[in-house]
Amino acid sequence: MTSFEYQEALKNAARGMVRVKNPTRLLKMIVRFIDREVELDQTSILIFDQPKNRYYFVASKGNHRIPVNLIRLDADNPLIQWFLRKEKSNSINKDFLTYKQILRFLNNWTILDSDASLQRRLEEVKEQMELFKASVCVPGFFKGELLGIFLLGHKLDGSDFSIEELSFFQTLANDASMAIKMSQYHEVLMCRNQELEEKIHEVSQLRKKERETYYQIIFSLAREVHTRDAYTYGHLEEVEKLGVMTAQEMGLDLSGRKRDILVAALHLHDVGKIGVPDSILKKEDKLTEDEWLIMRDHALRGAKILEPLDDFEEVAKIVLLHHENYDGLGYPYGLKGEEIPIEARIIAVVDAFHAMVSNRCYRKGCSFDDAIRELERCAGKQFDPQVVQAFIRAVRKRLQPKYEETRGYEPLLPSFEKETSD
Ligand SMILES: [Fe+2]
Repeated sequence: MTSFEYQEALKNAARGMVRVKNPTRLLKMIVRFIDREVELDQTSILIFDQPKNRYYFVASKGNHRIPVNLIRLDADNPLIQWFLRKEKSNSINKDFLTYKQILRFLNNWTILDSDASLQRRLEEVKEQMELFKASVCVPGFFKGELLGIFLLGHKLDGSDFSIEELSFFQTLANDASMAIKMSQYHEVLMCRNQELEEKIHEVSQLRKKERETYYQIIFSLAREVHTRDAYTYGHLEEVEKLGVMTAQEMGLDLSGRKRDILVAALHLHDVGKIGVPDSILKKEDKLTEDEWLIMRDHALRGAKILEPLDDFEEVAKIVLLHHENYDGLGYPYGLKGEEIPIEARIIAVVDAFHAMVSNRCYRKGCSFDDAIRELERCAGKQFDPQVVQAFIRAVRKRLQPKYEETRGYEPLLPSFEKETSD
């Protein structure tokens, strides 16, 4: 290879290194690259395993290749120590080490005399290079840390490595070390990211569980309120059914969350009554002004109960406003017409109808026709007239045969019928 070709090869290798995030894959690529471009009988790379403080062969190619992953060198191996240790003699360059350099050092008494241990160390390194059939070793450093060593065999054409080639390998080894370090950082970052994602998932699961528990509590509270309120079992299911039927009759969009919001509001609209004492809730006579104030507070209290649930924000608003009247004479704010959410206007009609036709402990429910007449009478005042009309159309289509038969209200749900007949 010419000088220009080496520079081009180096540029290409550097570009590849930036792209590769997996260190093992990167080193295998480098070994393949050297094998293809330089033609050696062996090219191998030793890589530092920091947690175990030792080096292992991660990639090897050529006729004399080394079995990777099987051979490991401890940090005190003479070859490793050679590159880690600072030499006393300035004549010893640690950018690379060739087998021929070792032989020259061993015959140079001036160098050997400068350090009593040098001869022994050189002989040990020579042994290691012979063992791995390496003619050149090139260390790769990053910020002073020895991250790997390229072990290069002999050129297939029998020639020696030129200074240009050695300098090319040295640059390649240092660039590769930097890329290895970056990819190790990347791996650590990925691991941390994964740990973080797992933690986030754990927390969100816990929050989900907490939310589910809270939902269960709230729905139990709502059921408890209706039981205490002397409505018969099944009231909530009935209110839900009638409310959804009315919304469908009005052509409202009930796709996805919108239906869930309506259903949740139909179930939970009176959950705030949990704070109203039985003496008021079950009172047969007219409520005093003070009692009435406590009773009216249930809309606000219900919204407060739902406040901690982020995804129940719209439900809480409907619960808060389910006693607003179409003519603006309701509570708590005196909103009127379309200022009141449509779901709240539907609940007002459905709940009133159901309360009128249901049997209570102190009175029998009124007939279907009387209840409808009362709704019509209050349309435009307490109730939205369009909701009343839609409700009547829907309820006639679905329920009237039953009412005509019994002249009283009978719930739709089979489970309720079974429950009451026992
Ligand atoms: Fe209410």
